[in-house]
Amino acid sequence: MNNNNILYKLIDKLEEERILDEKEFIFLLDNISQSLVEYTAEKARKTALSIFGNRIFIRGLIEFTNYCKNDCYYCGIRRSNRNAQRYRLTKEEILECCRIGYDLGFRTFVLQGGEDPFFDDDILVDIIMEIKKNHPDCAVTLSLGERARDSYQRLFDAGADRYLLRHETADENHYKRLHPPELSLENRKKCLRVLKEIGFQTGAGFMVGSPWQTCETLARDLLFLKELSPAMVGIGPFIPHKDTPFAGKAAGTLEQTIFLLSLLRIMLPDVLLPATTALGTIDPRGRERGILAGANVVMPNLSPVSVRKKYLLYDNKICTGEEAAECSGCLKNRMEDIGYEIVIDRGDYKPRGEEFLDV
Ligand code: SAM
Ligand code: FES
Repeated sequence: MNNNNILYKLIDKLEEERILDEKEFIFLLDNISQSLVEYTAEKARKTALSIFGNRIFIRGLIEFTNYCKNDCYYCGIRRSNRNAQRYRLTKEEILECCRIGYDLGFRTFVLQGGEDPFFDDDILVDIIMEIKKNHPDCAVTLSLGERARDSYQRLFDAGADRYLLRHETADENHYKRLHPPELSLENRKKCLRVLKEIGFQTGAGFMVGSPWQTCETLARDLLFLKELSPAMVGIGPFIPHKDTPFAGKAAGTLEQTIFLLSLLRIMLPDVLLPATTALGTIDPRGRERGILAGANVVMPNLSPVSVRKKYLLYDNKICTGEEAAECSGCLKNRMEDIGYEIVIDRGDYKPRGEEFLDV
């Protein structure tokens, strides 16, 4: 068998068994070619179509604070970045974003921010309850980093439905090279387990092409995600930010991100999988390519235009200038151009049995 045939057979095996071993994943990742990416994307696209049809779920992203007590080496809003202009949205501003978003058809709001101690449990509970009161038919997703179990529990009890916490890398040594010593993979994983236990639809994920990432660490990411079996997986290319220690590092590639999206779709068929803003930043058609490779979610920006340029995790971030309506209108057109339709739906995670895939 020539190399290509072995690679295609591995993709077929992944489709049948929904898992490969570490060596097999490494072999695939070591041998990425255009033809392999296309072969895998086609299978991933068919899998997504069999479960979600051509329906794309949207999430309205509200970047409500860029204060952060952490100092992750890759991140543009890390506490050591003195050039970041810090801001916090008020409760009223957050509620206004939701109101505008609701009228635009959003039924999920994602509150994302740095780890900002100002937003303690009492303040967050109040905001979550108010959003749920104003929009009882909407889901609230939180992306606020690491907190204690009782804090996560209070946010859940207040009505939050989902929580996004990327694990960033499942390899201990790699984790240490991306984060300062006070952060640990162990705690990150513990938080993910706790979130699931509490009952959140939980999302993990990683950056593609982060410094010192290898095919080995990526294989570990895939195996970790299989074991965790999350409701959502967020992956996007690493993109350097000029005011961070990783300013001079190379960005992740479109090809590798697309390939990983496809592997994830085939491995976790019903997972909610966004085509991220970072993917749209490294390539003007990145999000479309992501959808055609198996993604089924997009997350337009609902933050007020006045703060968008301040929530800069990486350089050249797209969608920092448009109004919410323009931004979601643009994505609607982009999805329609490739034969997909944005739907007005909470888009909850609904685990399905394998048999569904055979229909
Ligand atoms: N503080 C929360 C947390 O830690 O989960 C949420 C905000 S954090 C900025 C959201 C995600 O942005 C991170 O999980 C990371 O994967 C991604 N991110 C940060 N810097 C990035 C960069 N330079 N390129 C691409 N993605 C980046
Ligand atoms: Fe805290 Fe990036 S370092 S959000």
